[in-house]
Amino acid sequence: MTTPTITLNSGTTIPQLGLGVWQASNDETENAVRYALDDAGYRHIDTAAAYGNEEGVGRGIRASSVPREDIFLTTKLWNSDQGYERALAAFDASLQRLGTDYVDLYLIHWPLQDSERLLRTWDALEEIAASGRAKAIGVCNFEPHHLRLLLEAGKTVPAVDQVELHPHLPQPAIRSYADDHGIHVESWSPLGGTSNSGWGKDSKPNTLLDDPIIARIADRHSKTPAQVLVRWHLQNGLIVIPKSVHTERIAQNIDVFDFELDELDLSEIATLDDGTRVGAHPDDMNLGAPE
Ligand code: A2P
Repeated sequence: MTTPTITLNSGTTIPQLGLGVWQASNDETENAVRYALDDAGYRHIDTAAAYGNEEGVGRGIRASSVPREDIFLTTKLWNSDQGYERALAAFDASLQRLGTDYVDLYLIHWPLQDSERLLRTWDALEEIAASGRAKAIGVCNFEPHHLRLLLEAGKTVPAVDQVELHPHLPQPAIRSYADDHGIHVESWSPLGGTSNSGWGKDSKPNTLLDDPIIARIADRHSKTPAQVLVRWHLQNGLIVIPKSVHTERIAQNIDVFDFELDELDLSEIATLDDGTRVGAHPDDMNLGAPE
């Protein structure tokens, strides 16, 4: 069964489910990407300069039998490269590492507390989009006040905002603002993240994959907890990028189109909303800001 697509405000279509590769080495990434494309049926890969595995993504794509134009490829600009000139140079370096001449989506990885520099970064992304080398541009970890800044000062509305989002942190304020402005929300750490990702003062280890409520729902559908979580994102209209480097899990996470969560399932999952994060709050961290 093929993954549904969503049309972004740029006119580009994005498969609603993709493969995430944070914390995977280049070799792990190459194998995961090739398997995901050739064997599991993924057509959307999400990486970032800061993950250090763009080369692995490029190698995995080239090792697969899927043509580049059939793949939706996202990468992200790290904070030390914010600013107009630096962003343009960082984008070229990403393309070089990926071994491609365009990406489907280029994202600012993290907001800066320096609004002026952030806006100059967005100027660079708008220029990159105008050149056709990024089919769409967007942001990550933007709170509504960051989005408002871009909407007021920029010419382009971001196509997506990729934020930490899962049943413990369903992000209603960001989703509502995004909906009102034609921005699609992508969920990172959709399965609750890695147990050792504890960065940021509010972060907690992943408990979702072992949660008894999720396990009970999974049993009712003869599915796994990860599949229940992926379905929850899809049914909420979110773009979802579960990460795994294990072939059986990569296959499992896309095998979610033969069941549906019902009202009871969704109401039980809604009780898990307790605001816990596995990552940092965007307003608490000026991550990697240039000197
Ligand atoms: P691994 O790569 O070792 O499979 P998220 O996407 O929320 O960041 O979470 C991904 C975490 O969950 C990773 O640690 C990943 O580890 C693990 N994971 C991914 N898919 C599954 C699955 N189907 N079942 C159990 N764990 C999974």
